[in-house]
Amino acid sequence: MNNNKLIDKLNYALGWELRAIILYSHYSAYVKGIQRLHLSTHFSSEATESIGHANIVRSAIVKLGGKVITDRNSQEIIHTSEYVEMLKFAFDTEKKASEIYNEILEELKNFNDDELYDSIENIYFAELRSVEEVRMLLN
Ligand SMILES: [Fe+2]
Repeated sequence: MNNNKLIDKLNYALGWELRAIILYSHYSAYVKGIQRLHLSTHFSSEATESIGHANIVRSAIVKLGGKVITDRNSQEIIHTSEYVEMLKFAFDTEKKASEIYNEILEELKNFNDDELYDSIENIYFAELRSVEEVRMLLN
């Protein structure tokens, strides 16, 4: 089994989590108006969730004997103080994350590590819940 391909994909996911931490922390700081009352907390807890995901993915890479990246994904984080735009960018980010974890799960089906599969699946489900949550917020 090719460990390197899996490690590359996990590092790619990690880069997106590192980006998500910054995106959500940024929007949490900037969200204005009455929406700030709930969205600042929401974005802040999404940032915390991303830290948790990043920790799990990082540990998985270490366990596989890989070299962990320290740079975030370079996709631009667009500054805005409009909460609808923030939610749209959050939606794109969550959607992307769920696609990445889905691909990793496909890869892990050929890999004999139930614990790793389970931990990535948990993250994948969390991303799906976030996609649905943001979708509802935007409706
Ligand atoms: Fe995540």
